[in-house]
Amino acid sequence: DQILMVEEILSDFRLSKEGLREVMKRMQLEMARGLRLETHKEASVKMLPTYVCSTPEGSEVGDFLALDLGGTNFRVMLVIVGEDEEKGWKVETKNQMYSLHEDTMTGTAEMLFDYIAECISDFLGKHHIKHKKLPLGFTFSFPVRHEDIDKGILLNWTKGFKASGAEGNNIVGLLRDAIKRRGDFEMDVVAMVNDTVATMISCYYEDRSCEVGMIIGTGCNACYMEEMRTVELVEGEEGRMCVNTEWGAFGDNGELEEFRLEYDRVVDEFSINPGQQLYEKLISGKYMGELVRLVLIKLVNDHLLFNGEASDLLKTRGGFETRYVSQVESDSGDRKQIYNILSTLGVLPSELDCDIVLLVCERVSTRSAHMCAAGLAAVINVMCERRSQGALKITVGVDGSVYKLHPCFQDRFHKIVRELTPHCDITFIQSEEGSGRGAALISAVACKMAACMI
Ligand code: BG6
Ligand code: GLC
Repeated sequence: DQILMVEEILSDFRLSKEGLREVMKRMQLEMARGLRLETHKEASVKMLPTYVCSTPEGSEVGDFLALDLGGTNFRVMLVIVGEDEEKGWKVETKNQMYSLHEDTMTGTAEMLFDYIAECISDFLGKHHIKHKKLPLGFTFSFPVRHEDIDKGILLNWTKGFKASGAEGNNIVGLLRDAIKRRGDFEMDVVAMVNDTVATMISCYYEDRSCEVGMIIGTGCNACYMEEMRTVELVEGEEGRMCVNTEWGAFGDNGELEEFRLEYDRVVDEFSINPGQQLYEKLISGKYMGELVRLVLIKLVNDHLLFNGEASDLLKTRGGFETRYVSQVESDSGDRKQIYNILSTLGVLPSELDCDIVLLVCERVSTRSAHMCAAGLAAVINVMCERRSQGALKITVGVDGSVYKLHPCFQDRFHKIVRELTPHCDITFIQSEEGSGRGAALISAVACKMAACMI
């Protein structure tokens, strides 16, 4: 029977409990290697110190500019930080999205940063604040090796960015240079943070137990508050520092080989960074739609779908977008939505075809949720161990289009995280406008204190 044969092919996407525990264990091993001085260079999970040690307590108030580069949208924001009797902090934002073309993402660093400066200039002009020299917080969602909160080199681009002349250079320096080249406004760049960090900080503002930040969107990554004494790359023993795990690169040393399927290998081979970000490529939105498409093509070739014939669009790389996965799984049961998506792709599906496409989407997105859950469980169990408390109560701040827009991702994800962390009491909160508020709050603290606070 057709469905059984399809099920058989899709069973490769199922991860057993033992499998997930194994992924979690290996992730913990790489995390430990990333933190240690002797091994950090070869570790796949880079565990990058962020120099964010404090949480926004006692900072400047006033206007801040925030930039958000690296997610689906590039944004410029004006964040007004004020005092609030109850929470301590009040933030208000005005923000504008700017389109980022592939040419700008893959040209030269100078072109990319000139464009960023142009957008800032446009934003300042619109809000009549071009004359003000504002402090600026930059959410830059790529692996950065920091020397301080406002200085760090880009290790490598991820997620389809490839602007030449940026890797190995201080990103804040590139931004400052571009602003200077324009010469029509001034800015005081005070902090650069990863999106996971900005997300964590913005959620901390709502919930003081928030010590983990996570993104499941175009890319996938997490950060958490680690004990200073275990962050060997930074001097000092007291308190905690936020570590950007950059777990997307987990697997780049071969740790995931038995979990990677033929489809994963094709996705990787045709990506802009083959061999890199292998864990991220099993999970995040940049790759999910393409994984589904490759499975559909396999089923067509095996004559199990669409009468053995695919449309040109379906045969084209990138033809099945990740948002379709969410839309297919949101179908109310009458298959209308699935039918419509498939018709836009140029195929006329039967009812059985629709059911099969739904099954494929479910299997691919469930594997993504479970794989990612093993990663978060690894982080949380490490925190639990370090703090050796009975039941650790912890809040995780989350952002990203897959987490927010997919209809079932959250439930599947939360369930497995909780199963793998039996001794922890976990709360998940979604960040709203996380990056803007987070970057501004960190800047506000950085403005007041030159160094760490806790
Ligand atoms: C946004 C944050 O809401 O989510 C960004 O402001 C972040 O900083 C992004 O990078 C991640 O999600 P996506 O789906 O846009 O990659
Ligand atoms: C990629 C980036 C990482 C970022 C994540 C989510 O993995 O390398 O820095 O946090 O995407 O946007």
